Amino acid sequence: MRNALVLLILHTIASSNFSFGHGQTTFNVLDYGAAGDGERDDSKAFLEAWNASCSTYASEGTTTLVIPAEKTFLLQPTTFSGSCNSGNGIRVEIMGKIVAPKNPDEWKECVESWLSFGNLSNLIINGTGEINGQGSPWWSNITTQVNALHFFNCSNLRLSGVTHVDSPKAHISINRSNNVTVSDIHILAPHDSPNTDGIDISVSTYVNIHDSKIATGDDCIAINNGSSFINITNIACGPGHGISVGSLGVNRSYQTAEQINVRNCSFNGTQNGARLKTWQGGSGYARKITFENITLTDAKHPIIIDQHYCNGKHDCPNSTQAVQVSDVTYSNIQGTSSSMEAIVFNCTQIPGCTNIVMKQINITSAIAYQNISASCINANGTCSTTVPQVSCLKTNETMSFNLYT
Ligand SMILES: *[C@@H]1O[C@H](CO)[C@@H](O)[C@H](O)[C@H]1NC(C)=O
Ligand SMILES: *[C@@H]1O[C@H](CO)[C@@H](O)[C@H](O)[C@H]1NC(C)=O
Ligand SMILES: *[C@@H]1O[C@H](CO)[C@@H](O)[C@H](O)[C@H]1NC(C)=O
Ligand SMILES: *[C@@H]1O[C@H](CO)[C@@H](O)[C@H](O)[C@H]1NC(C)=O
Ligand SMILES: *[C@@H]1O[C@H](CO)[C@@H](O)[C@H](O)[C@H]1NC(C)=O
Ligand SMILES: *[C@@H]1O[C@H](CO)[C@@H](O)[C@H](O)[C@H]1NC(C)=O
Ligand SMILES: *[C@@H]1O[C@H](CO)[C@@H](O)[C@H](O)[C@H]1NC(C)=O
Ligand SMILES: *[C@@H]1O[C@H](CO)[C@@H](O)[C@H](O)[C@H]1NC(C)=O
Ligand SMILES: *[C@@H]1O[C@H](CO)[C@@H](O)[C@H](O)[C@H]1NC(C)=O
Ligand SMILES: *[C@@H]1O[C@H](CO)[C@@H](O)[C@H](O)[C@H]1NC(C)=O
Ligand SMILES: *[C@@H]1O[C@H](CO)[C@@H](O)[C@H](O)[C@H]1NC(C)=O
Ligand SMILES: *[C@@H]1O[C@H](CO)[C@@H](O)[C@H](O)[C@H]1NC(C)=O
Repeated sequence: MRNALVLLILHTIASSNFSFGHGQTTFNVLDYGAAGDGERDDSKAFLEAWNASCSTYASEGTTTLVIPAEKTFLLQPTTFSGSCNSGNGIRVEIMGKIVAPKNPDEWKECVESWLSFGNLSNLIINGTGEINGQGSPWWSNITTQVNALHFFNCSNLRLSGVTHVDSPKAHISINRSNNVTVSDIHILAPHDSPNTDGIDISVSTYVNIHDSKIATGDDCIAINNGSSFINITNIACGPGHGISVGSLGVNRSYQTAEQINVRNCSFNGTQNGARLKTWQGGSGYARKITFENITLTDAKHPIIIDQHYCNGKHDCPNSTQAVQVSDVTYSNIQGTSSSMEAIVFNCTQIPGCTNIVMKQINITSAIAYQNISASCINANGTCSTTVPQVSCLKTNETMSFNLYT
């Protein structure tokens, strides 16, 4: 009798889900028929395991969906949606590898994103596993690229640990979400893979991205329309196109971004460093933006504001209207530029860029004995201890006083 009871308990533990006394509930995709051989389509098993996690109520602890180590799971485009019944949210533990179909013809659906998580609160995704978009075949024909991992309408989201490789387009996109933390992740794609942004943020608030390494073919992080209260800290970016606010105002739209801090970041071999870009003809604003304690190694355009952004995919109107850029602070930025123009403020005549503040900037050429310069059109504000000199900013009074005593 006792043996039978032990067996029953063991059986329960080994079967698809089990509850500890304190309410923790674990679901393993292998128990829902996932093959994990990298060949067979495991999407249905993942969705069934997700459905089970999502519909099980745990009074305490978090419900955990386990994607085990040492296995490779092939997934077709899949959407993990809420809302869920799980009480304290769901944790997705990615220990194994998740791969997309190798060839674009093998994708069963035409979608914007490969793996989507939507309408969820208190979602945690972590682990030491990998998400691999097998994007290289998509890079030669960029008309139909898809993002790898997409979050839509999530609140209290945490993503950490996981490695993200070779997305067809952006590796991670965060849209219409609030209170998001992304940390300790690694994003990796070749320097010449087109449109493979590391992390795209749009229409989202209170987003923290920290302690991560991003090497890719486009922006390491792009902070787009509708983003506010965004902190980017301790990011090593390179190769890539830097950390960008915008582009804003495409197709004459009204777009905004504000309250953005980029701190303690390094750029190595990037096309840009701290970048802000807006389209002519748009409206709205980009304001209250700080870039602080930035290290540059061989960055082509370390500091750039471009109010004439145009990437050739849309009309580039010659318009007197533009997104307003104001209250942008650059402080403690050191290192080398691989082009001769280390600082570019290329603003439109109206409204121009106002209250640009620069302090403790020292950017030198990556090439020995080469002089570098700054160009400044239609911008105003102040600067102190800034090398190279930025002609259209006023030198801070106390600084110039000190210089002459
Ligand atoms: C998961 O749940 C959704 C919504 O309840 C349902 O439409 C879908 O068929 C379920 N999928 C699987 C694989 O069980
Ligand atoms: C989220 O909810 C909205 C509105 O109910 C729905 O249109 C959308 O498809 C859902 N998205 C996801 C990813 O669950
Ligand atoms: C994932 O996060 C949970 C909750 O914060 C933590 O207990 C667990 O150790 C983490 N796992 C890994 C592999 O990082
Ligand atoms: C790119 O992909 C689109 C959509 O699949 C297709 O119509 C087009 O012919 C492709 N272009 C090239 C150059 O392969
Ligand atoms: C933000 O999300 C975290 C979980 O990631 C949660 O602990 C915290 O309470 C949330 N903050 C707010 C203000 O909701
Ligand atoms: C961003 O950093 C500032 C200053 O350290 C802090 O006050 C604010 O709460 C942080 N915001 C988020 C979303 O973490
Ligand atoms: C500046 O950023 C670097 C990382 O790039 C970090 O190691 C250092 O502690 C930061 N300094 C300060 C004063 O925060
Ligand atoms: C920059 O990247 C190059 C090439 O990957 C590497 O050799 C070098 O050590 C890096 N420099 C810094 C300061 O991180
Ligand atoms: C754009 O407009 C400006 C100001 O009206 C004018 O000076 C400039 O020549 C125009 N450029 C083009 C390419 O039309
Ligand atoms: C400013 O942008 C305009 C429009 O793209 C371009 O023609 C001009 O060369 C740029 N100026 C500088 C100094 O980069
Ligand atoms: C700027 O940095 C260079 C290279 O590190 C150094 O030689 C130079 O003294 C610095 N200039 C100032 C004004 O700090
Ligand atoms: C910058 O220009 C704006 C608009 O012309 C003006 O209101 C502001 O006072 C100027 N700021 C400085 C520091 O000159």
